[in-house]
Amino acid sequence: MNTTKILVILGSIREGRVGDKVANWYMETVKNVEGAEFELLDLKEHPLPLFADAVSGAYREGKHPNPAVQAFLEKIAGVQGVVILAAEYNHSVPGALKNALDYTYWEWKGKSVGFVGYGGAAGGARSVEHLRQIVAELRAYSVRDQVVLPFVWTMFDAAGKMQNAEPHEKTALAMTNDVLDLARKLSA
Ligand SMILES: Cc1cc2nc3c(=O)[nH]c(=O)nc-3n(C[C@H](O)[C@H](O)[C@H](O)COP(=O)(O)O)c2cc1C
Repeated sequence: MNTTKILVILGSIREGRVGDKVANWYMETVKNVEGAEFELLDLKEHPLPLFADAVSGAYREGKHPNPAVQAFLEKIAGVQGVVILAAEYNHSVPGALKNALDYTYWEWKGKSVGFVGYGGAAGGARSVEHLRQIVAELRAYSVRDQVVLPFVWTMFDAAGKMQNAEPHEKTALAMTNDVLDLARKLSA
């Protein structure tokens, strides 16, 4: 079986974010999934300028003139599936993540997408609902199951380990297996 490549995008970049702990937990949870390779792309380490291009990614011709943007586009283009770690900001997607997505378009065509939502009372569910609409516009397909992590700032101990992680790990693996199944069907 060929290895299915999954890009994991961390889209919150604020100081003191919980997102890095969520990312470590997710990467650790999926590290032994067979037949798959997971790469984390942290937008804090790969900052992109505020989108101000003349046209959307759907109408851009050739490479993007900004190497950081082009590298981001190539990361998405080079995988069969994407898992988005989605914080909820004001019932929606963090600005840095939406900004990054606005550069993209064709790179997503026919890809499979899953979500790890995290936030306050709603556990990122409203952010994920918006992301489902966004990835549909980008011609990608999202799987049903999603991780929901409510009051995420209470979930990790001082060493960054998630407490009572088992049910969330189960959901994360189920979602990830669906992303992989769909990715393989879409790229068959
Ligand atoms: C600007 C901002 C807006 C937020 N809005 C919401 C919200 O609408 N609903 C919610 O459940 N949590 C909300 N939160 C809480 C975040 O989801 C929570 O702090 C989470 O840890 C954010 O991810 P991060 O730590 O990786 O940045 C908000 C946090 C920030 C910073």
